[in-house]
Formats: sequence, C-alpha cells, structure tokens
Amino acid sequence: MTNQANESGQAEAPELAGKHILLGLTGGIACYKAAELCRLLIKAGATVQVVMTEAAAQFITPVTMQALSGRPVYTSQWDAREANAMAHINLSREADAMVLAPCSADFIARLVQGRADELLSLMCLARPVGRVPLLIAPAMNREMYAHPATQRNLAQLQADGATVLGVGSGFQACGETGDGRMLEPEELLHDIVACLTPKVLSGQRVLVTAGPTYEAIDPVRGITNLSSGKMGFAIARAAREAGAEVTLIAGPVSLPTPRGVNRIDVKSASNMLEAVMSRAQSATVFIATAAVADWRPAAASVQKIKKDGSGRTPQLEFAENTDILATVARLPAAQAGKLFCVGFAAESHDLLENAQAKRLRKQVPLLVGNIGPDTFGQDHNALLLVDAQGSTELPRASKRLLARRLVQEIAGRLAARESVPAATP
Ligand code: CTP
Repeated sequence: MTNQANESGQAEAPELAGKHILLGLTGGIACYKAAELCRLLIKAGATVQVVMTEAAAQFITPVTMQALSGRPVYTSQWDAREANAMAHINLSREADAMVLAPCSADFIARLVQGRADELLSLMCLARPVGRVPLLIAPAMNREMYAHPATQRNLAQLQADGATVLGVGSGFQACGETGDGRMLEPEELLHDIVACLTPKVLSGQRVLVTAGPTYEAIDPVRGITNLSSGKMGFAIARAAREAGAEVTLIAGPVSLPTPRGVNRIDVKSASNMLEAVMSRAQSATVFIATAAVADWRPAAASVQKIKKDGSGRTPQLEFAENTDILATVARLPAAQAGKLFCVGFAAESHDLLENAQAKRLRKQVPLLVGNIGPDTFGQDHNALLLVDAQGSTELPRASKRLLARRLVQEIAGRLAARESVPAATP
C-alpha cells in the first residue's frame, strides 16, 4: 500500500493503515457492493480477509473477492489450510473489526440465536466481544426490513454488543421502493473508520461554524469570500468520529454533510449568529472556523439595483457584523469553563503575533492560526495552535489529518480542564 504524499511531499499514512478487517458476505444481491467496499478498504490501507457463506457465493464468486482482497477467501469451517483446523478462532483473533456486508435477514436471525453451523456465524460467535467490534450492514427487501421479527432481531444484536449500521432508502433490486438497501461502500468505509477511532470526545456536544457568509447587496448580488468550508467540515467529521454529538452551521458551500452530523445551512453572518446563539447554551465545545464577513451592506436593496446609463456607481454603506466567536466566548458557560471555545485566525502575515493578539481579544482558550491565502479552497493546510501556555505547530498536511489532530488537541485540553477547573482564557 503506498502512502499518499501531501503537498510538501511527505507521506501521509492512509486512514486504515495497520488495520485488519474481516469482511463477511452473506446471501443478498448487495454482494456486488461488497466488491467495491473491499477495494476501498484496501485503498484505505487495511488488509482484508474475506469470508463468505454458501448463499453469498451464489451472488458473487470467491474468485472475485480473492482478486480484490489479494487473499484466498474462506467459505468453510473445514478449510484444510488451517493447520489446527480452527479457522473460526484464528481468523477472528487476528481481526481489528468484523464487518458483515451485506448481512441478510436470515443471517441476522442466526446471529441472534448464536448459531454456529457454518464458518461465518461460528466466527461471529467465537469473536472476542470486548476486543473485536462487529459491524452489521443489513441489506434486504423493505418488507423484510420493516418486519417486527427483523427489527426485534436488530435490537437484540445491538444489545448483544454489535454495531448495527443504518440502511439506505430508495429503489430496490426487487423493484420496490423503501428502506432496506445496503449503505453505499463509501458510507460503510466512513462508518468503519469511525468505529475504529478512539472516542476521545465521547459525551461532548460540539458546535462548529464553517464556510463563508453571504451578505446581500440586492436580490441578485452579494459579498462573500473564498472560504471553501473544507476545514470546518473535516473538523465536524473528526469530532463525530471521536464520539461527539456534532452540529455544523454551514455558510453557502456545496460540500456533502459528514455522516452522523446535524447540519444547519445559513447564508448571512446574522443568520449564522442566530443559529449559533440558539444552540451555544447546550454545547460543551464551540469551534469557529467560518470566515464570517466583517461587514454587510447597511441596507440591502429590496429590488435589483439597475444601471441608469449615467456612468454613476452605487454608493454602498456598510455596517459591522457581530463577532459570533467573541459573543459566545462571553457567555457565562464559556466564562465558567463549561463551554470550550476555539477560534480560527485567517492571516496573511505575522501569524504568531496576530494569533496571540486575536486569542486575547476574543477571550478564547485556544486559537488556531493559518495563512488564509495558502488554505482557502485547498485540501491541505498548516496550523499554529496558540493558547495560554504558548504555541504548537501542526505542519502542512491534509485538512482531514489536521482535523483529527486538532480534535485530539482539544480532547487533551478538555481532559486537563477537568482536573483543573475554571481556567483563565
Ligand atoms: N469570527 C466570528 N464572527 C465574526 C468574525 C469572525 O465568529 N463576525 C470568528 C471566525 O470564525 C474566527 C475568528 O473569529 O474563528 C477570527 O476571524 P478572522 O476573520 O481571522 O478575524 P477577525 O476577527 O475578523 O479580525 P481581522 O479580520 O481584523 O483579522
């Protein structure tokens, strides 16, 4: 597996480097999607051992899965390749996670009963429950999925310690439309990565602002900026993967919503302020990555401003927008150390000095500096973390990796706060 190089030429380990995934296929038309999932897992750096039931082999051949995973597929508990004849023990002990995709209604029922008369169910029963997570991706007809027996079985599997992933909705192979399709391979990959991420923000409620704002001049024109929202979206995703409940308040961007994140779309700075203030009281962490417009046209024209042919240009008056971060940082919860505020500073020069000054001006415990023109719209960035103790550099890397590191830094500071209450900003 080759590591991806970032813009500075340094290798960045893929997300699942060093992880070994046991991918189990059961009988269902969605087996064709398991081929793509296997490819994505390998691309993400994992090693994959495929195990198939007899029914799965009716839908896709073991040869295809062997070629994609680069390993012979196991289909029988009597496989002579295992010297001790204990494939179920050997395979389940070496896995970091077991993923059943697709998992049929019948196989779900078998798991609930603890059946062990073929290799895959035997392995699920033999897995060390506390060490190897079991992820189930159900796939079936909508009536089968909605049936009380299936819903009862899924609830029982959750209670038994499995992670039951959601299902997709829409047109099904049987011609009906509804809930029960297997999640798409990309979605499954996200859920597998999330499952293997340490839950350092478990119990936290994180509020993130992201993207630019749009300040209307008239109904067809406005002022905005080059922020893409990528950093904020990456942080929302990383915080969610780390176990937080995440609300993302996004300015006008066309990025997909990270899985499991509650997204609220806003347009102007005043919309963003309102959306933030109605949720800040119940948050425990506020991360302001948005490039909020500092000014808005004082009075947006209700009608489109027309040229009158005289060559005269419109005279725009501006009003200053409320500083959302500074307003949140002054809330009693933030002052009492119960709402941890993180600001960003988009600078063009003197990063450390400007970031330090901004941190004190906005009264936040942590301010993250970056060079705006080097990062707007890009997939990479470099961050400078400034707090009361000093500064820490997070060198140039993908926004995805930086977001994960920042989440760890925030988690570390939250843990330190718990041992030393009510720190000064
Ligand atoms: N911010 C905010 N509300 C505003 C302006 C900024 O919440 N009206 C937040 C940003 O989301 C960021 C931080 O404040 O977390 C700093 O934003 P930045 O644009 O770098 O700084 P400004 O305060 O606007 O100062 P200046 O433009 O003079 O550098």
